[in-house]
Amino acid sequence: LTVQVNKPGAAVNKNMYGLFFEDINFAADGGLYPELVKNKSFETAPALLGWKALQGGANLDAYAVRAEQGVSAANKQYVRLTTRAGAPGEAGIENEGFRGMGIKAGGEYTLSFYARRGPGSIGGLTAVIMGEKGQALATAPVTGFTDQWQRYSVVLKATGTLNKAFLKLVLNGAGTVDLDVVSLFPKDTWQGRPNGLRTDLVQLLKDMKPGFLRFPGGCIVEGRTLSERYQWKETIGDVASRQPLINRWNMEFKHRSTPDYYQSFGLGFYEYFQLSEDIGAEPLPILNVGMACQFNSGELAPMGTASAKGGPNAEGAGAPGAATSDPSLDVFIQDALDLVEFANGPASSPWGAKRVAMGHPAPFNLKMIGIGNEQWGPQYLERYEPFAKALKAKYPNIEIVSSAGPSPDGELFDKASKRLGELNAEYVDEHYYAKADWFRQNVGRYDNYARKGPKIFAGEYAAQSVSTGSPDNKNTWDCAISEAAFMTGLERNADVVGMASYAPLFANVDAWQWTPDMIWFDNLNSYGSPSYYVQKMYALNKGTQVLPVTMPGGAKNGTDNLFASAVADDKAGDVVVKLVNYSSSPRAVSINLAGAKKLGKTGRAQVMASADLQTQNSLQEPKKLAPQESSFAVRGSTVSYTLAPNSFTVLRVAGK
Ligand code: AHR
Repeated sequence: LTVQVNKPGAAVNKNMYGLFFEDINFAADGGLYPELVKNKSFETAPALLGWKALQGGANLDAYAVRAEQGVSAANKQYVRLTTRAGAPGEAGIENEGFRGMGIKAGGEYTLSFYARRGPGSIGGLTAVIMGEKGQALATAPVTGFTDQWQRYSVVLKATGTLNKAFLKLVLNGAGTVDLDVVSLFPKDTWQGRPNGLRTDLVQLLKDMKPGFLRFPGGCIVEGRTLSERYQWKETIGDVASRQPLINRWNMEFKHRSTPDYYQSFGLGFYEYFQLSEDIGAEPLPILNVGMACQFNSGELAPMGTASAKGGPNAEGAGAPGAATSDPSLDVFIQDALDLVEFANGPASSPWGAKRVAMGHPAPFNLKMIGIGNEQWGPQYLERYEPFAKALKAKYPNIEIVSSAGPSPDGELFDKASKRLGELNAEYVDEHYYAKADWFRQNVGRYDNYARKGPKIFAGEYAAQSVSTGSPDNKNTWDCAISEAAFMTGLERNADVVGMASYAPLFANVDAWQWTPDMIWFDNLNSYGSPSYYVQKMYALNKGTQVLPVTMPGGAKNGTDNLFASAVADDKAGDVVVKLVNYSSSPRAVSINLAGAKKLGKTGRAQVMASADLQTQNSLQEPKKLAPQESSFAVRGSTVSYTLAPNSFTVLRVAGK
């Protein structure tokens, strides 16, 4: 191979490799957002989701959700418990958590709730974090209930570790009591924040040095219907007041259905911006364009001026609750304009003031917005045009990511892309979920792509080991190495491809709807799949400018299952070569670093290799396949290196 070190080409976007976050597979509640109580406010349907009465309710006369004189307008519903006179045993309720609660020995957990005493003598309760076998991991009494709603808070310190604990609230006394907004939150959160995120999962993200964080999806942006769409204004402000919404991924894949999947929005837009800042990623919110998911109802917002008010956070909105179901396009456009103000506006602006009130006086420096997810056809373009116009008119510097239809449907994509080019979209968000060999065969996808017009945002992609939508997909090395091969094509075309992110990002091993996924976790532990390490190797070695690579004999990239790309890393003063050997035999390569000056005598190799293409990582073997480092010799301007069977190798040599 020859790498033209003295002929640097296009600049690599500094945000090139990023993250796609969607609340699918319990990625938010039950994952990154570590609230342990499911349905803390009794506002879901059914309202007692996640809860059950102790002893099957044998010692309760009443166990029901009510709505008269609730804690607040936003927290209307609460649970009322009335003990049964003379019944033996404990009276109270328990919460199952999200497939149990992950509890660590020595860990501290803040229990908080509202209580109001009715007739009788219930002066308090005993909170117990329990194991499945009846063992108590932590116990704390809470006393002082009155006949008015009051908030109570106590810290429970655990004496043991359990993946599937639960929370039991045992009433002390006899009579009636009302409870609401019951939260059990670990003190150990990212940066120790009270409403902070799960540390091991944030660390995995940060370790990747991601260029951007795309949120909140995915299909949940669209919703199955417009009334179930994601509305960012409903996800900010007081956490206890955020109204839960059924998750679009509820009931997906019937064989492992999760008929209990809500979005609590404890992880809302403020927290997404904060997370982006924490991990050094540019925030990239994707907003609904006035269309519900075209794979579901396909509902369309009427074009034109506002006919509906939003929920409690919408300006001018009177009554709380979800937005009415038929907002016109202007409502969606206004949401986008207000989002820029929320992220970047001064304290003196209405939406900037809300950010400041939440604790972030400095702007979040939002630079990009995505309009629509996986939407296509004339209905999309019709809505996109006024949407983009209004956004650019008010915020000319905001870059717009536009949507394309499901890929790899070339025709659909090409048609949309042409029109979006005419409309000056900065990016087209292209998705590819396809078999592993598709990724290797399509390494040249952007080699002849038009150099003018919107750049590509490869906003969702993942090789599927079985087929797209199959619950049997696995995160195999075959998938990951094929993604690595394909990514040499993204890197070589850095003048066209500006951003890329694997999808989906997270999956709970006990509650997933989609496979494969980049990072897997249970209630206590997590691991990166081989695809995670491929993404990380690209992100940490993205360099600054593309270097032209000539393959042996002048062949096309990918010939004989050898794939390569190269970049200069001006910051480190290195030349970086990426090589994929998709073959069961070792392969000796000779790399001529043509025109290089001042090359180091040794270089550093990072290698992922497994002869067995079915290799996977797991909770038990989290790093079975992960990059290994070694050094190699550089002779003059040549590197002679033997690529391991089925390997992805990154070679770094000091020089330019
Ligand atoms: O990543 C899972 C889903 O795949 C996303 O929600 C959607 O955009 C795509 O169809």
